[in-house]
Amino acid sequence: MKKTFNLVATAAAGLEAVVGREVRQLGYDCQVENGKVRFQGDVKTIIETNLWLRAADRIKIVVGQFPARTFEELFQGVFGLDWDNYLPLGSAFPISKAKCVKSKLHNEPSVQAITKKAVVKKLQKIYHRPEGVPLMENGPEYKIEVSLVKDHATVMIDTTGSSLFKRGYRVEKGGAPIKENMAAAILMLSNWYPDKPLIDPTCGSGTFCIEAAMIGMNIAPGFNREFAFESWSWVSKELVQEVRDEAEDKADYDVDLDISGFDIDARMVEIAKKNAEEAGLADVIKLKQMRLQDLKTDKINGVIVSNPPYGERLLDDKAIDILYNEMGQTFAPLKTWSKFILTSDEGFEKKYGTQADKKRKLYNGTLKVDLYQYFGQRVKRHQVTERG
Ligand SMILES: C[S@@+](CC[C@H](N)C(=O)[O-])C[C@H]1O[C@@H](n2cnc3c(N)ncnc32)[C@H](O)[C@@H]1O
Repeated sequence: MKKTFNLVATAAAGLEAVVGREVRQLGYDCQVENGKVRFQGDVKTIIETNLWLRAADRIKIVVGQFPARTFEELFQGVFGLDWDNYLPLGSAFPISKAKCVKSKLHNEPSVQAITKKAVVKKLQKIYHRPEGVPLMENGPEYKIEVSLVKDHATVMIDTTGSSLFKRGYRVEKGGAPIKENMAAAILMLSNWYPDKPLIDPTCGSGTFCIEAAMIGMNIAPGFNREFAFESWSWVSKELVQEVRDEAEDKADYDVDLDISGFDIDARMVEIAKKNAEEAGLADVIKLKQMRLQDLKTDKINGVIVSNPPYGERLLDDKAIDILYNEMGQTFAPLKTWSKFILTSDEGFEKKYGTQADKKRKLYNGTLKVDLYQYFGQRVKRHQVTERG
């Protein structure tokens, strides 16, 4: 099997640079592009990046890239790739996704069918199977994806399985949870460090709080789940265990964290507690029912992170206007606290009453949202208390 792989970590629009930073922190050079980060590595890299990347969606192997303006070029291009390095005899290899953008070949089902045909033909040749006899596909699954952008094909294998945002701790969710990898990315974009207090005053199912605790304790986000590559024969179980053991050694469960989540809805607080418990963090995160309008604290230099109800989701317009306005009034006295508020409401700043220091466009699924960033006044701890 192969020693070095061309890999991509896919990322939601707006989060590519965050994923790029994470890949570099793991020790790999990378190139940040729209929707993805490219890097190279070995089997251990595949395991590590799946286990550790907090903001990415998936890790994929790039099997090959080539021009494909016709079905013949597509067939020959796919046939020419080194499939024997990836697909042992008996593998299941669905062409799970085909995407055609600004290309002469635009019929996605046909692109899928031709790709499948070419891989089958190549495997029959490699494994000396007679043509016309279908290949058995009763072994581990390798999902193949093909994308055509401006007549250029990229053929990839997904190593992840269900998307990386599925950490495995969410036993229940509320009406509008934020994706776990988006929550982690926002925390990494913020100026929160584990020695600062963190409050999510609209915590819902607790995603920001749980992700913050995992960052604070250096817990690998994928520790509680499995990945597609774990069923592959060329990924050694011992190596997977080694990387998992290394992750366990890197976690610091003794670090002191000050993380609180509040929500007006008692049912949501119960859900957040269950999720925190599933993540093994029930003792670390303080969760309680409270209206954000009642938030008061004497602590300084903290960070508030929140995705309050958006217009289209959960509340009507009038109620949103009032909530955002009360949010502004409640947070205003907390001068040394930074605030990071994610909403799709373009009139947020007006309703909140203060213009953001910085705004960043992101996508929560397909919904365009903005992260409104308000930076707290910098003070040394002995200089001031919030009410001082
Ligand atoms: C978009 S959801 C937050 C989702 C959350 N980040 C998660 O991951 O599940 C907004 C939350 O704000 C809560 N909420 C609405 N009005 C509130 C208020 N006045 N005070 C506190 N929480 C409120 C809702 O109950 C809901 O759980």
